[in-house]
Amino acid sequence: MTVTTVRAGMVAPFHVMRILADARRMEAQGIDIVHMEVGEPDFPTPAAIIRAGIEALEKGNTHYTPALGLPALREAIAAYYLQRFDVGISPGRIVITPGASGALQLVLALLAEQNSSVLMADPGYPCNRNLVRLSDAVPIQVPVSRDDNFQLTPAAIVSAWRDDTRLVIVTTPSNPTGSVLTLKALGALRQVVCDEGGMMVVDEIYQGLNYGEAPTTALKLGNDLFVINSFSKYFGMTGWRLGWLVAPEAMIPALDKLAQNLFLAASTPAQHAALAAFEPETEAELERRRCEFERRRDYLADALEGLGFRLGYRPAGAFYLYMDCSAFGMDSDTLARRLLDEAHVAVTPGRDFSEHAPDKYIRFAYTADIDRLKEGVRRIKGLLTA
Ligand SMILES: Cc1ncc(COP(=O)(O)O)c(C=O)c1O
Repeated sequence: MTVTTVRAGMVAPFHVMRILADARRMEAQGIDIVHMEVGEPDFPTPAAIIRAGIEALEKGNTHYTPALGLPALREAIAAYYLQRFDVGISPGRIVITPGASGALQLVLALLAEQNSSVLMADPGYPCNRNLVRLSDAVPIQVPVSRDDNFQLTPAAIVSAWRDDTRLVIVTTPSNPTGSVLTLKALGALRQVVCDEGGMMVVDEIYQGLNYGEAPTTALKLGNDLFVINSFSKYFGMTGWRLGWLVAPEAMIPALDKLAQNLFLAASTPAQHAALAAFEPETEAELERRRCEFERRRDYLADALEGLGFRLGYRPAGAFYLYMDCSAFGMDSDTLARRLLDEAHVAVTPGRDFSEHAPDKYIRFAYTADIDRLKEGVRRIKGLLTA
């Protein structure tokens, strides 16, 4: 018996989960699968963070922290913003959350009023639209394309704005496209949202995984933005479930109350472990990994373009390539299915990210080492040229 509710019905399942489940089933039968669907770094959590986590557990740091987070971690994040981005943020504006997911839930619980609408880019991270729906608000997916660097533009925001629009969500670097907004472009978006009387949430979860230009933060633009971040991607801590939100000072008491009710506090051992995320040893290791991601991006982009997938730009962040596969005469879901069944390569179809152009794109994650990527490309070529 399948049990569902109206609320659960508002949320679409991730198609990639079906692909992943099938891939796991095939692996259990002894079939070797090249994974290019996974949205998390293949690298382990850096050693200093693991040591700090073990130490925290051994010292008995297993009780709740305050709902806003461990004061020492809020201070460490503020110091990181100052040292790395030259922006002064009061630790009092930082809320520690269970991943960027927790930060998104918190910010939407605060800002996505019932029956209001929330603008976001299509393609984009699927949880954004699902969580907006769960808040009884309405997601408005604004189509973006390669011509606008797969990001919202001031003109697109103005033309999509409705009387009930209150909020805009921007993700930079983006999932699934890896596209990055400059500070100037972010500033232009903030201005137009401000002129319309709305608020802006900037998801910077892939910050640090930047290639070419050094990373920046929307926090440089002023104190009125909500900025989401996480230890998951750049810091390699997906399973620890730890992220943060920077909010305007006046919103902190309300966020405190919501955090107490939504999750009480983020994981205590994870918060202690994350104190080691900003140590020089970790920083050096993360820089090595960033360079390796860049090398993989360059290899995979060239190799897939060579096979007929279209990219047409070099994504400046994250670890994804969102490739146009319309040259192959089948929709992306069918191609993703065939890649798994016949070539044993797992990828994510565009349907997970886009309601406007669900059939045209496939997301490749370069979260596998370069030899595995080469093997994946060899198999894809075999399928497409058979
Ligand atoms: C754009 C974006 N935001 C938020 C998340 C949630 O990440 P986490 O909860 O692990 O920090 C993800 C995960 O893939 C993501 O891609």
